[in-house]
Amino acid sequence: MSEVKKIAVIGGDGTGPEVAAEGVKVFQAVAEIEKIKYELAEFDWGGDRYLQTGEVLPADGLDQLRTFDAILLGAVGHPDVAPGILERKLLLDVRFGLDQYINLRPVKLFPGVETPLKNKGPADIDFIVVRENTEDLYCGAGGFMHKGTAHEVATQTAIYTRRGCERCIRYAFELTRKRANPKGKRLTLVAKTNVLTIGHDLWWRTFKEVSEEYPDVEHDYNHVDACCMWIVKNPEYYDVIVTTNMFGDIITDLSGIIQGGMGVAAGGNINPEPGGTSMFEPMGGSAPKYTGTGKINPIATINAVSMLLDQIGETAAADRVMQAIMTVTGTKMKSQNAGQMGYTTSEVGDLVVEAL
Ligand code: IPM
Ligand code: MN
Repeated sequence: MSEVKKIAVIGGDGTGPEVAAEGVKVFQAVAEIEKIKYELAEFDWGGDRYLQTGEVLPADGLDQLRTFDAILLGAVGHPDVAPGILERKLLLDVRFGLDQYINLRPVKLFPGVETPLKNKGPADIDFIVVRENTEDLYCGAGGFMHKGTAHEVATQTAIYTRRGCERCIRYAFELTRKRANPKGKRLTLVAKTNVLTIGHDLWWRTFKEVSEEYPDVEHDYNHVDACCMWIVKNPEYYDVIVTTNMFGDIITDLSGIIQGGMGVAAGGNINPEPGGTSMFEPMGGSAPKYTGTGKINPIATINAVSMLLDQIGETAAADRVMQAIMTVTGTKMKSQNAGQMGYTTSEVGDLVVEAL
């Protein structure tokens, strides 16, 4: 990691640039306190640029991003662009191209934040989902035959590799060990071995083999459907979950809602290898109807900034931001929902800065 931390900021679409601006505000303030040297570069990649130029990222976009220590992404999704285009180019191509093979989603209920789960509080909702991020149904493998006819055939193939699942499972074991949950270190594999008897058999065997290197970590297995029930019924059971890309996508939205929703939940697309460039984002979408209204909640993006700081080795700054978020959710904000926070987007950013 270089002495001067180079951070790329892609505001993206809709409310993305507004929340990214609050993330940057908090980043700059904590960098000042913790004496972090940094350079920020902003990129206007997203739907508007695509509509003007026909291009989402420039041809050398990925090479440009590779030169940064980390990326902060606001949001992807533009009402005038057909679904799939921006997601593929801005999100999936970056994940795949920069080999961000981990999608990390901490699920933590902050103080003062409302959860839809009855009788559950911050002590019950505190786990992490490690989602594989470069394989499975996301590879885009498949095709059509006889398209548009009554005989149309469509295939979309889930691809799993030994290397792909092993590196993800290993990351998850390491994380579980490092997290050292006082309730006990437990890694749960979530898959569907009773139906996906080929692809998830590979995951299962790999999980069993790697688990032998981590005798201090309890290893455990849930089918994905059962996991969805338990996340709602007994979220306190979970410490770290490791799962495949598609199932991870689904269970992390379920998990996001129990931690207070899209105004709070953040994720990281992580390339953990030395020199790897990781990208951090709030989980909420671009919420176009709120663009420019000052109603959107920047806490998720600020949460993403804390994760970014942690990944680039600035753990003291990461903790400071996390503590400040919890002070603001616990003692200031009325709600985490857009338009009901009791403050505007930029006022929430200011409150976090004050609390640093
Ligand atoms: C996410 C999103 C993306 C995904 C979409 C926008 C491609 O839902 O980050 O979870 O499915 O991975
Ligand atoms: Mn998703």
